[in-house]
Amino acid sequence: MSRITRGQIVLRTERIALSEVIEEAVEAARPQIEAARHQLDVSVPREPIVVDGDKARLVQSLTNLLSNAAKFTPAGGHIGVTVTAHAGEARIAVRDDGLGIPAEQQARIFEAFAQADTDLARSKGGLGIGLALVRKLAELHGGAVRVESEGAGRGSVFTLALPLAKRAGPLRARPAEPSADTGRSLRVLIVEDHPDAADALEMHLRLRGHETAVARDGPSALECVERFSPQVAFVDVGLPGMDGFEVARRLRAHPSCAGALLVALTGYGRSEDKRRASEAGFDTHLTKPAPLAAIAQLLADVAARTRSRADAR
Ligand SMILES: Nc1ncnc2c1ncn2[C@@H]1O[C@H](COP(=O)(O)OP(=O)(O)OP(=O)(O)O)[C@@H](O)[C@H]1O
Ligand SMILES: [Mg+2]
Repeated sequence: MSRITRGQIVLRTERIALSEVIEEAVEAARPQIEAARHQLDVSVPREPIVVDGDKARLVQSLTNLLSNAAKFTPAGGHIGVTVTAHAGEARIAVRDDGLGIPAEQQARIFEAFAQADTDLARSKGGLGIGLALVRKLAELHGGAVRVESEGAGRGSVFTLALPLAKRAGPLRARPAEPSADTGRSLRVLIVEDHPDAADALEMHLRLRGHETAVARDGPSALECVERFSPQVAFVDVGLPGMDGFEVARRLRAHPSCAGALLVALTGYGRSEDKRRASEAGFDTHLTKPAPLAAIAQLLADVAARTRSRADAR
């Protein structure tokens, strides 16, 4: 296992068979695919196709492609996943017979926050960061992602290309090394009524591999924790209606959230807020706009705690 740091994303690289990546990604996207009653066909060659990669990140990338295929294809569509290897390169192709993407938009959908100019893309409530993340992770693996579509209504094919593993040797030779793992994925809830602030924080977290949920107000945050069981929650104290302090008290009392790290986001210089934050059950507070380094440190602490708890079991 080697750990490669490039930019802020830490890759934990090991030799992996792509069939395992496909399996896990399909499991993750299955509820969405089934909800839309799509037919899914997966074709993986019998001989293992092996790459040096970070399994969790590759699963995350492929899950994003599958989730897009499910989302941008009208109910009852067809989604196909095929894996091939040729000339030192593995290719995972995700095909759908959905909305398609007009030629002039194919380049920009890989940019962060970019969505095709269809009402549907907006109406689905995404942010337009899934593909930016897929591209970034592909590049970190020395690979690439591209799209082909004959245009609106003609379906799309997204292909993730990765270099095949060069070294011969057994799969997963050594067990994962235990370490303070900043690359570990956490479930993070953002409770913030200001869309730009929420989007920026969500983008930052998702690009680092965390799962995120955003609630615009207290009642939706409380509803969300039932399903999401966050490990960390960032809560703006200045929410309209139920304020952040009340949200914290109720999150703290909620069984799916009792052990979560609660972080108050307070306005600049309001020391009164800081005292009230700790009374309300927040573990800590950050002054907005929260410095990214402080956020990273908090998440690394939670990840390390979660890991040592898992090790103790
Ligand atoms: N399979 C697809 N078919 C048609 N359009 C697609 C497909 N995948 C992506 N797109 C277009 O590319 C845009 C960007 O995709 P991306 O995954 O980055 O964002 P999103 O799915 O809208 O939001 P997010 O992934 O952040 O929830 C989408 O909004 C959509 O317009
Ligand atoms: Mg997406």
